[in-house]
Amino acid sequence: MKDMKEWVRDFLSGNISRREFVERAATGGLSLFATTSLLSSRAQAGNLHATGSDVHDHGNGLHHHHGEQRAADTPQRRFWNQTNVNPWEEWLKQENLPVYRDYYIRDLRQAELKPWKRLGPGVRGAYVDLVGGEGINAGYICELAPGQQTVAQRYLFEEVLYVLSGQGESVIWNPGSEVKRSVRWKAGSVLSPPLNVWRQHFNRGNSPARFLVMTNAPVVIDLFHNLDFVFNNDYAFRDRYDGDPDYFAASNHKVHHKDTTAEESEQAKGVDTWDSGFVPDARELALRESKERGAGNYRIELQLADNTMQAHISEFETGTYKKAHRHGPGSHVVMLNGRGYTLMWKGTLKYSDAPAVTQKRIDWVEGSLFVPPDGWFHQHFNSGTDPARYIAPTWGGDGKWFMRSLGGGGRTHRLGKTSTRKGGNLIEYEDEDPHIREMFEAELKKNGVDVRMPKRK
Ligand SMILES: [Fe+2]
Repeated sequence: MKDMKEWVRDFLSGNISRREFVERAATGGLSLFATTSLLSSRAQAGNLHATGSDVHDHGNGLHHHHGEQRAADTPQRRFWNQTNVNPWEEWLKQENLPVYRDYYIRDLRQAELKPWKRLGPGVRGAYVDLVGGEGINAGYICELAPGQQTVAQRYLFEEVLYVLSGQGESVIWNPGSEVKRSVRWKAGSVLSPPLNVWRQHFNRGNSPARFLVMTNAPVVIDLFHNLDFVFNNDYAFRDRYDGDPDYFAASNHKVHHKDTTAEESEQAKGVDTWDSGFVPDARELALRESKERGAGNYRIELQLADNTMQAHISEFETGTYKKAHRHGPGSHVVMLNGRGYTLMWKGTLKYSDAPAVTQKRIDWVEGSLFVPPDGWFHQHFNSGTDPARYIAPTWGGDGKWFMRSLGGGGRTHRLGKTSTRKGGNLIEYEDEDPHIREMFEAELKKNGVDVRMPKRK
């Protein structure tokens, strides 16, 4: 009996039909995406318009077409002998890049990358699928060598791109539109290409240009499990973006003050929102004081490209720390500067009482990324000599669009400002584990920094 390698060889050399190959692959354990890639590579090797009796269904009922005509009347085959197929995981396998899966990444700027074939020569990448993303949102790191660019891409998941190093340009246009907009960016910039626009990124500097992109791709790919639909869709979301020349502009007219009405929102006292597709430098953006979350705390919300994914920038002073709180998954905290640590724990009000496996301390620097998992308490401490600022792209949340699922995603909804004494999700300073203050004071002493926390009542 032939093994799978021999079937693959026979298929690539044209000795067996596509139909026969797909059937062998489905029953012979070849992964869905490996099958797809092979079909695609033969299609591109001179078989571009072969459809007809071809089978467009590969193993799990997912579809993927590279340079092939879709035959709408082709009957789709489904396979019934599979369980727990995770389309997102299958997609990651096919991409063949490193995948970071821990609770945090020490320094995104140093993380190891590999050549990213799909995006073109001179492009390297890695996926970021941390524990706290919980299959809701995830990200990737992408780096362009000097003089290089990505291929143009479009897809049905949202993106928030943060530039870690270098400088470049992105060109953006809607499907079916001739109107192209160009955005120049550099380290510190935040760009959100609107949903399903064509986007192409160029390095315009002399050094590598590296960026982090947060997406809600896992939800979208899992939900539709049809890559052709997600990556090859002609729909233009003109309600979000219609080629407006001001769309990626950056000036103070992009800032709106909103008085929110949601009592349990973090923003109940009103908030500044930057409403644009672009932020020239997140490290420089002016913030507004926000006392609910803790001492010396400043914030601005980013409403980017009318996304459901949302982001905010927060800064807190040296010698201070925030109140612990908890919420749904997926708040990806990227440290923009400063030095300190974050505690994350699950299951108990007191950090010290949490079981070791759900008790994490993350010491961060500029370039660190961490994600508090679903329902874990977390608390940020500035133990350095300068203010510490982060940007946190999040699933759903506290912006223009609110998602009821997962409690509104990775922000403080559902009793978010209510003390845990009253059944809420915020630990007031006077209720916290005494060990927390001791640990902080010891850390500051080590660093020669003064405590600036309010005195205990
Ligand atoms: Fe949080």
